[in-house]
Formats: sequence, structure tokens, C-alpha cells
Amino acid sequence: MNNTYEISPNIYWVGGNDRRIERFENMFPLTNGVSYNSYLIMDEKTALLDTVDSAISAEYLENITQVLKGRDLDYLVINHMEPDHCANIEEILRRYPGVNVIGNAKTFQFFNQYYSMDMSENFLEVKEGHEISLGEHTLRFYMAPMVHWPEVMVTYETSKGILFSADAFGAFGALSGNIFADELEYDSYYLDEARRYYTNIVGRFGNQVQALFKKLEGLDINMICSLHGHIWRGDMISFILDKYDKWSKYLPEKKGVVLAYASMYGNTENAVNALASKLAQRGVKDMRVYDVSKTHPSYIISDIFKYSNVVFASPTYNMQLYFPMDALIRELSVLNINNRKVSLIGNHTWASAALKQMTELVSNMKNMDIIGTPIDINSSLREDREHELDELADIIYQSLQE
Ligand code: FEO
Repeated sequence: MNNTYEISPNIYWVGGNDRRIERFENMFPLTNGVSYNSYLIMDEKTALLDTVDSAISAEYLENITQVLKGRDLDYLVINHMEPDHCANIEEILRRYPGVNVIGNAKTFQFFNQYYSMDMSENFLEVKEGHEISLGEHTLRFYMAPMVHWPEVMVTYETSKGILFSADAFGAFGALSGNIFADELEYDSYYLDEARRYYTNIVGRFGNQVQALFKKLEGLDINMICSLHGHIWRGDMISFILDKYDKWSKYLPEKKGVVLAYASMYGNTENAVNALASKLAQRGVKDMRVYDVSKTHPSYIISDIFKYSNVVFASPTYNMQLYFPMDALIRELSVLNINNRKVSLIGNHTWASAALKQMTELVSNMKNMDIIGTPIDINSSLREDREHELDELADIIYQSLQE
């Protein structure tokens, strides 16, 4: 049974969901799967925008067959050459051998690196601002390098003002019948997954996202169709643009504290719980406390993008920073997180390394201010040092008032 959705007259969503997938890119846990979106425009010419992951090929190909109703496919636009969107290109070429495959020079380079089919006769290379008319609909192409890969481009349909945005504005989570973000209580569950998707997948490339925004300035955009997640229209367009603007500028969405700790026997955890309690008693609300050994870093990273302050607390292990904490901070560094206030707590029994290494890692990141005097616990925090925790709580609280 096909499953398609006419999102605008003669423009169809022909993608699908994968709820069985455990991890996106074999790295990021998915509790509610992911959607792979593809769109088919029916006009004097027919145009398919991107394909989908191999996990849902059968349903996808049935969708296309149903919408085309025996017509040929004239164009396949490849906005992004990552395999979660490209796994069906060869099959599309086999089924529609005359199809013109639209991309840029890098698109075709990457295709030839991944796949063995010779499609040199089908290549149709486009450059910035090129347009292709399908009849009533016209496609205009904008290059969007590094949003998320170097070959990425976005396609703007000029008659309806629809932006086919590749990975940009995407989200984790399968679609549950409602294909438009305005049909959901997006701000609760779905926004967290959109943030986790952006920060972990595209987070490193904030400058490139801003560059794309500049290119699109002045365009009349009525709908944004990403390759993952829901479609944006109406008021939800400014909603997600505002989020993307903050995320890509590394600006926190709200003042608040994420406390991420590593703890082998509960002593570092105890200090963090005590600090969180002291912060709460000073009036700090909506804190997030995470055990880095328990919670996948993608969730912690997402919240560190959301909030203004972070506390890292970790023991020394084998004369190093405890490895999951080391990995978390290094990943944050790779994702270019900046503009946060950071407080540090180390712990050791006979030789201190964790606090020193956390200090070095954070100091090497851009615009990450270490606030308060770092605390280096000796095995467990005793009452005679509680005043250090109080002083740190005061400093963090004050920073939230600025
Ligand atoms: Fe959904 Fe960058 O691929």
C-alpha cells in the first residue's frame, strides 16, 4: 500500500519512516525512529527531489509509482549525497533511464565514489541561481556547502515559495500521520528532537547555516520541506527560523544550568546533587543533571546548546580525565559550542588530573568562560568544604541574573 501526501497542489511527499532503526548514523539513539522525506512534483515535467534510505526502498518506490501513474520521471534533484537520501538513485535510474539527474560538481563526484552505475549521460550540472522550469513550477538552486556536507544545495520552488532544504530544518523522529509541524504540540516533545538533530548533526557548521540564511534573505518562503521530520508552514516557519538562528549563532535559548557529571562510586555525583540543590534553593529553575556514563552525549549536547550555563564534574581515571567526560567535552569542542559559562569540579583520591584536563579543554574552546573557583574534591566532599560549593552556587546564580 502506498503512503503519499499532497502537501501543495501537485506536489507530493513520497517518503517514509523507519521506526526500527536503533541509531542514526549508527551513533545517535532514536527512540522514535526517523523519517526520510522525498518529494515529487507533477507538472508538464515531473521532478523528484532526493531519494531515501535503503531501509524503506520498497515503500518508497511504490509511492513514486503510484503518484507518477505511468508517467515518466523527467528530473531527479539531488540536494544531498549522504546515503540516507541516495540509496535509491541507482534504482531510479534503472526504472527511469532517461531521467535528468540534477546536482553540482561535488554531487557527481560523491555519487561516483559511492556507486558504480555510470550515469554520466544523465548528469545535469547546475550552479548557484540556475533555474529549471517544470511548467507551472520552477526550481531554483542555491548552494549550501557544509549544511551538512560540501555538496549540499537547496532547491527553491518559485511559484509556491517552497524551500526544499536538504538536512536543514530536519529532526529526529518518525512522522505520525501529521506531516506538518503546525499540526502538533511541537514545543514539547518534537522540539527537543529537532534540537538534538541540529546540534549533533549540523551543530559544527553554524557559520555555514548563517551563510545560507543570508542567501535566502528576501525570498518569499511559504513552506520548508526538509529531508527529515515535519514540514514547516505558517507561523511555524518563523518559529524554526528563530531556533536555527540561535543554534547556529551558538546563543542559548534560555538561562539555565546543565550539570553533567561522571562518577564511579557516587561521590562526584553527590557533590553535583548538592550543588543542584543549592542552586534550586537560590531560585534556579529547570536544571538538567546528567550522568555522562548513562545518558548518550547527544542528549547532553543538545541541552548544553539550549542553556546558558554548564557544570562539568569528573573524577580522575588512570591519571586522565574520566573517558566519557573527556569524550563529551571533546565532542562539544568539535561542534564549536561557544558563548557558555562553565563551572568545574574535579575529584581524585591520590593524584589530580581531571580538573586540570577539563580546564585545558574548556580553555581551548572559544568564548567559554570558566566562572567560580573550580573545586577539586579529595575522594568525597566533606562538610568542611561545603562553603566552596556555596560560593560556586552563588557565582552561578549571579551569572544567571546578568
Ligand atoms: Fe540526512 Fe546529512 O543526511
